Amino acid sequence: MRISVIGAGYVGLVTGACLAKLANKVTLIDIDTHKIKSINSKASPLYEEGLDELLNQVNVEVSPDYTRTTDSEVLFICVGTPPDKDGPISLEQITEATKEISKVLKKKKDYCVVAVKSTVAPGTTEELVIPILEKSGKRTGKDFGVCFSPEFLREGKAVYDFMNPARIIIGEYDKRSGDTLLKLYRNFNAPVLRTNLRTAEMIKLASNAFLAAKISFINEIGNICKNLGIDVYEVAKGMGYDDRIGNKFLNAGIGFGGSCLPKDIQGLISKSRQIGYEPKILQEVLNLNDRQALKVIDLLKKHISLKGTTIGVLGLAFKPGTDDIRDSSALRVVQALLKEGAKVKAYDPMAVNNFKKLFPQIEYVARAEALNSDAILILTEWPEFNELDYSGKIVVDGRRVEKAREAKIYEGICW
Ligand code: UGA
Repeated sequence: MRISVIGAGYVGLVTGACLAKLANKVTLIDIDTHKIKSINSKASPLYEEGLDELLNQVNVEVSPDYTRTTDSEVLFICVGTPPDKDGPISLEQITEATKEISKVLKKKKDYCVVAVKSTVAPGTTEELVIPILEKSGKRTGKDFGVCFSPEFLREGKAVYDFMNPARIIIGEYDKRSGDTLLKLYRNFNAPVLRTNLRTAEMIKLASNAFLAAKISFINEIGNICKNLGIDVYEVAKGMGYDDRIGNKFLNAGIGFGGSCLPKDIQGLISKSRQIGYEPKILQEVLNLNDRQALKVIDLLKKHISLKGTTIGVLGLAFKPGTDDIRDSSALRVVQALLKEGAKVKAYDPMAVNNFKKLFPQIEYVARAEALNSDAILILTEWPEFNELDYSGKIVVDGRRVEKAREAKIYEGICW
């Protein structure tokens, strides 16, 4: 099929590259000149496992020119929906992209489907996207269709997740919209659920909120376990044998970060407050997560005074396998260390450049072994951290790195 993808971030770029690999003709649109240059020279502007190889196998070109989308059968909106200052999801980019698509619709002769993939609060596609599209003078359901088609791609594993979906959710304005989108997914071996638009929007937010809740839940159990001398990892293992609980996403530690979980749960809280419902569980999932990151500082202070002391930080990315530091626990922890008067030396195999932009004042080392410091905090579970020599050190571990237990003093954050 002829596809356009608006927004070449990790969702849009992976979606475009994977759909091209599946023999579709893909046009990518983005306004960022750095991204455009990089993608057109077949190098991904962001780190995603397998994406550079994929870009070299397929023919996708990116430019800011929306007129290139005129012959598309499906136009995916994959622009960013970052958090707004006061909580709700920012709709600025999605509004701009939709206005541009609306201009394209004006000139389009054939039926097409506009499919929103950007994560938005329930009701946004109906209340914001459709009215802007109809400013073209064309009618939804007659001249064009609309879908909300959420993505469930993990950063770092996005190519794999796209090609091996656990489920395909199609929120559809009407049957024709959904039928058109479904043609794209016909060769995937995954259950398909077709719903209305706002249900699909909620499925996306509720899924991420549930994942976040699972992490805060096991962290809370961990905090209790630590005080009782119980290993929360054994507890999670025992719980996980029950199919209803499952053994995934129960790794206790410093908490969740990234561009999705914190933002999406905040977006759901804001939407919920807008309609007059106070979502207490969701709010506490976030509160606990905020407190959890700073627990490493309290644990460290039990063993060493921070003022004037050099603290080594292992791991800056919000999880291994990415250079992304958005909402990473390391941001809060480094900020707190500096406030306490500590000197910070940090190492991360991928995320140093991004972290440096926000914290130019701390020292960065090129190899983990060079982190000679009085005490070490482990904030991301990069596999290489399980091969370091921790003997003689004070270590506070936020990520359960087994080798670190050899340290002179070892404190797990909640074990
Ligand atoms: C998350 C979801 O997992 C994807 O399904 C979803 O598509 C994506 O958001 C999105 O909305 O785009 P991602 O943000 O890439 O994916 O990261 P995760 O792998 O979910 O990890 C999130 C955070 O939770 C990380 O900081 C990780 O360290 C933490 N985590 C994860 C734990 O602390 N414990 C766990 O057991 C699992």
